[in-house]
Amino acid sequence: MTDARTKKSQTAEVTDSNGDGVFPCPLPTSGRPVRSLDQDLRQGLAKAGCPLAPSVEERVQFETLLSELSSRFVNLTANEVDSQIEAGLRRIVECLGIDRSGFGELSANGRQFFVTHSYQVPGVPPAPRQDLFSLFPIYSEMIRQGKVVRVPDDLPAEATAEREYCRRVGLKFNLTIPLTLMGSVVGGIGFASFGSRRELPDELLPRLRLLGDVFSNALARKRADEALRDREQMLQVSQTQLRDLAARLLHAQEQERRRIAREMHDDWTQRLAVLGIDVARLERQLAPSGAALELIETIRKELVSLSEDVHGLSRQLHPAILDDLGLVEALRSECASLSRRGVLRVEYVSQLLPHPIPHDAALCAYRIAQESLRNVARHSGGREAAVSLLVDADELLLRIQDWGAGFDPRTVHHGPGLGLSSMAERVKLVQGKLAVRSAPGEGTTIEVRLPLVENPSA
Ligand SMILES: Nc1ncnc2c1ncn2[C@@H]1O[C@H](COP(=O)(O)OP(=O)(O)OP(=O)(O)O)[C@@H](O)[C@H]1O
Ligand SMILES: [Mg+2]
Repeated sequence: MTDARTKKSQTAEVTDSNGDGVFPCPLPTSGRPVRSLDQDLRQGLAKAGCPLAPSVEERVQFETLLSELSSRFVNLTANEVDSQIEAGLRRIVECLGIDRSGFGELSANGRQFFVTHSYQVPGVPPAPRQDLFSLFPIYSEMIRQGKVVRVPDDLPAEATAEREYCRRVGLKFNLTIPLTLMGSVVGGIGFASFGSRRELPDELLPRLRLLGDVFSNALARKRADEALRDREQMLQVSQTQLRDLAARLLHAQEQERRRIAREMHDDWTQRLAVLGIDVARLERQLAPSGAALELIETIRKELVSLSEDVHGLSRQLHPAILDDLGLVEALRSECASLSRRGVLRVEYVSQLLPHPIPHDAALCAYRIAQESLRNVARHSGGREAAVSLLVDADELLLRIQDWGAGFDPRTVHHGPGLGLSSMAERVKLVQGKLAVRSAPGEGTTIEVRLPLVENPSA
């Protein structure tokens, strides 16, 4: 084409790049944008009475529509897809000068074919919304097989339902292009004219198919989005159900512990006390020395120790002391009991709490301290621990620390233990935060932050 342009007048002559010839050009050649040149070209052709002018004009309009729709559909959100397909069909109808355009989808098993979107000019019947296989079985089967169908031209003689429909509604011509996704037909896009026949040239076919592909890809993306959202919702529901279940389990566990603790306290310790009294009476009746007396004395001491253990266990199972004296004293007693029994030397530091703290938070802190200290005794290899209970802003801060073997917190999820995961669950239920800081050889610190103000949504 020409490169060097010689501007002589508004309607210029053009010299080719070799300078071999000069050609008249019907267009202004000043530095105008391409779009405007394009318009000028079309106007120039029309003015010159060129027979190709109308089809060039249509073609350019259609190409513009195609590129506009393609770029618009790239960034659509799932919510916008349906309305934009309807709007796109309307633009197609207006641009091609037809009367109706519809977009339909085949079911996954290929046995149903429904028009999902359509636009028609006023006065034209809307596209049927029933299953097209039941209305037009031959036409639908041709589409399912991936054939482009021109109605009535391509219909075989036995397509009576299809012909009857054309006659009844005045359909003069309909072109339907099947749409495929990954090799299988997923639907079709149709272009219909009523009253008079509006042919669509064959060379337009790939472009029309492209439009249909733009729509079906947008719909596929929308479906994928919806499926993802459904799955996310299901996941959320099952997470909520799981949390609910965990809360109910913890509650049931507390109730059961309370029941056993009461049984132990009210029944077993009483019976042990009666036994102790009987043994003491027996001791008094025996000779002041001898093997029997020694044995009885051993039995009495054993009974006292057993009674203390049962008492201690019942207190652990249901910390009535928590209700009676509050968290600060209940933890003091727990630490003292471990030290007294020689299990661990526990240093306890606490602050006066500003006001009565929520019962759930107190129980949570108490159970976490119990489990953490039990873990120190069982796993740390050390014999010392420190517990502190402080108030930090609006939070209760509980810290349990040891200087023993430590462990890698990332690996504990694979083990069978329930202590740490049940701590995490308890803390979540009262909207708190749990931090487990540990490393092999570096001891362990469990830190819990619990809100001091009860959360109404909890
Ligand atoms: N203070 C600690 N020092 C060293 N290792 C610890 C400590 N606390 C926990 N661990 C490690 O973390 C693992 C998990 O602890 P967790 O309390 O969840 O389960 P468990 O104590 O083994 O069993 P369960 O608590 O169900 O009786 C323990 O088996 C241990 O290896
Ligand atoms: Mg444990």
